Amino acid sequence: MTITPDTADRNAAARDAADPLHAYPSKFVRSPEVRAYLDGNSLGRPTRASAEQLSSFVSEQWGGRLIRGWDEAWYELPLTLGDRLGAATLGAAAGQTFIGDSTTVVLYKLIRAAIDARPDRSEIVIDTGNFPTDRYIVEGIAAELGKTLRWIDPSIDGGVTVDDVRAALTENTALVVISHVAYRSGYLADMPGITALAHEAGALVLWDLCHSAGVIETKLDEWGVDLAAGCTYKYLNGGPGSPAFGYVRAEHIESMTQPIQGWMGSSSPFEMGPGYAPHHGIRRFISGTPSIVGSLAMQDMLGLIEQAGIAAIRAKSVALTEYALELVDELLVPLGVTVSSPRNADERGSHITIDHESFASVNAELWKQGIIPDFRRPHGIRLGLSPLSTSFAEVQLGVEGIHALMTK
Ligand SMILES: Cc1ncc(COP(=O)(O)O)c(C=O)c1O
Repeated sequence: MTITPDTADRNAAARDAADPLHAYPSKFVRSPEVRAYLDGNSLGRPTRASAEQLSSFVSEQWGGRLIRGWDEAWYELPLTLGDRLGAATLGAAAGQTFIGDSTTVVLYKLIRAAIDARPDRSEIVIDTGNFPTDRYIVEGIAAELGKTLRWIDPSIDGGVTVDDVRAALTENTALVVISHVAYRSGYLADMPGITALAHEAGALVLWDLCHSAGVIETKLDEWGVDLAAGCTYKYLNGGPGSPAFGYVRAEHIESMTQPIQGWMGSSSPFEMGPGYAPHHGIRRFISGTPSIVGSLAMQDMLGLIEQAGIAAIRAKSVALTEYALELVDELLVPLGVTVSSPRNADERGSHITIDHESFASVNAELWKQGIIPDFRRPHGIRLGLSPLSTSFAEVQLGVEGIHALMTK
């Protein structure tokens, strides 16, 4: 029998059976209408634990404890959860990570704090491939404070390298802002190398961890990272609009101030005093009342990450993206599809992007069939593979689904 692309056994079931994390996909809410979910890097699936916990939270915690809940647990949650996140995936010792606001707002607060800490320097380094919100925030701050932007322009299938940063640094660089994993290509930047280089030039570095938190281990403390920010609705499965996190290196905390001076980050929030003075410690980076409901689902996901271990999660992430690339090479490259992500797994996060001019309509059709990747302009389909919730079978269904639509 001739093996054609449509009849070949692509071994997804065997890979799922051999997967040391095979028990995890069933710990997530799965709707029968969704045949393959390949967008865990935009919005993670809810855990089943969250489905239960959120409803009991409303009746028991919120409904039963009411305002007493703040004293009993909620006031400290942004910091206790930050510490847990730091230990489970960021490589951050306690007392340096907080939860709150959106990523955009945390970026604003931390970038302003960094620029204010380097008043004698006038330049910010950022790349054109960074996520729009990072670029827009940096542009706004540069306009607000009269700073100059130095742009790195990475290729569509790559990201910011150590050499790119070396070429952009000057004795005037105050801050370098980079995404650890590029949102489009999935390129995984060299965090320790770039951080060390920026420090040699006397600059600070802020890393956007949106596409790595929960899926790639970082060692923020060990690598000397100054500042980091990220969201919790992707690989941390906190749900739509769940709060962001921010990391500030211990040695900077007391000397940095952030611009959104709210009461919850003030020295004594319940004194309601006449003027603002920052709280000691990482609490000073909090501004207003934290979103407790929005933090609960992330807490459940952190439980799963702690159980599975970030090393095993990264190993499965690599296996999933390798498998996706194998299928893309077999089924889609012959149809003119190009791969816009690094081929080397050490330079890749947990998603791959493939490009073809037909992909806007292919993606729309896939969504109707319950196969859900996402679309990125001008004509990229992104396959975001979340190791604890994505099976190899879903990857196979997704790539075969694209092939079927392209050959129809
Ligand atoms: C790298 C990166 N930064 C920031 C954001 C979003 O920021 P916010 O959570 O404020 O919408 C995203 C969203 O996908 C992202 O991919």
